[in-house]
Amino acid sequence: MNAERSDPTLARYADAARRAGDDGCVCAADGSPFGSRHYGELDDLPAAAVRVSLGCGNPTAVADLHEGDTVLDLGSGGGLDVLLSARRVGSTGFVYGLDATAEMVELARRNGKEAGLGNVEFLHGTIDRVPLDDASVDVVISNCVIVLATDKDAVFAEMTRVLRPGGRVGISDIIRHGDDEDAPTVDCAAGAITVAGYSAMLRRAGLTDVSVQPTDAIGGGLHNAIIRATKAVVAVRAMEPGDWPAVRTIYEAGIASGNATFEATAPAWDDWDRSHLADHRLVATDAVGRVVGWAALSPVSDRCAYVGVAENSVYVDPAHQRRGIGSLLLQALITQAEDAGFWTIQTGIFPENIASLTVHQRAGFRVVGRRERIGQLAGVWRDTIFLERRSHRL
Ligand SMILES: C[S@@+](CC[C@H](N)C(=O)[O-])C[C@H]1O[C@@H](n2cnc3c(N)ncnc32)[C@H](O)[C@@H]1O
Repeated sequence: MNAERSDPTLARYADAARRAGDDGCVCAADGSPFGSRHYGELDDLPAAAVRVSLGCGNPTAVADLHEGDTVLDLGSGGGLDVLLSARRVGSTGFVYGLDATAEMVELARRNGKEAGLGNVEFLHGTIDRVPLDDASVDVVISNCVIVLATDKDAVFAEMTRVLRPGGRVGISDIIRHGDDEDAPTVDCAAGAITVAGYSAMLRRAGLTDVSVQPTDAIGGGLHNAIIRATKAVVAVRAMEPGDWPAVRTIYEAGIASGNATFEATAPAWDDWDRSHLADHRLVATDAVGRVVGWAALSPVSDRCAYVGVAENSVYVDPAHQRRGIGSLLLQALITQAEDAGFWTIQTGIFPENIASLTVHQRAGFRVVGRRERIGQLAGVWRDTIFLERRSHRL
């Protein structure tokens, strides 16, 4: 049995997709449409996309969409918001829809074809494990889906991860607000959280400029709401000697994790400076200029044959992890190294450090092999995974 069949919520959405695809009604008990009433004119869009609209607002009006943007719609259903966004971002932009119900994804793909839009793609998957790269989208939208998620922290962490620095969030959702006694008009809002809870979770995920604004009451202490946030701009620049205290603190946090390095203590600046290549040291800084991560290359050998081979290190402040900063730093380090003629960057990563392995593999590193019991950390033999990235320029 697949996930949709075993999950009663997804089974209901699969049924709704089938009914909408068969010209059937996907309506409230009084026969009125669910989601499409939140939009203006929809006559020129595929009828099945309009019929199966199950949202509680119009995130394409909430989000600030521009020509050329890459957009991700979490829980895209029959694809209405994806199609509307695709028109807004134009042929230089692109819109992904992601939904856990296979029937919804199939219906959305048919709707995308019928609308004749070449800049959309519908992915089958869950919103707590988005199948897109770090820092790969400009805007995340979602319409009445996050309320259904059991692990909202995981969803917000994924949103932050896939957003580019400066990226925006525009969500319509149901929240718990006030104490009106009317009967609820929806039965899918058991997971609704308060304004304060929603805001705290978004901030915890690393988003800023958070606003959670209740709109219309829908009974049972529930409200539709408009949610906006942005991902702070992280800049990457060359490391300066004055950055060392912050760099060392982040290094020490890596040491304390027990899964970042064999080193037991951070070195003094002079030792670190001597062992790293002067032209290949970067820091990532947040919106107010604080160092939140660093990356550097060190030589692997002083033999002439290895002049284009270096070993890399990437460390991110634990309070800023899972936000794509490691990827940003690594990509900048790779580009700079290739510009300087390096043909191989290599690294050894503890197999327990899944996040680092993922970031490196996404950046084009391949696993060369596992070095078993290669060294001891705190008296315990540890393996490392040896990875390398060959430059395509040579
Ligand atoms: C209320 S409908 C909203 C659909 C669409 N956003 C709209 O406005 O019509 C919720 C949608 O979220 C999807 N969904 C529910 N839980 C999900 C999850 N964990 N990951 C991805 N999609 C999910 C369902 O399959 C369904 O299509």
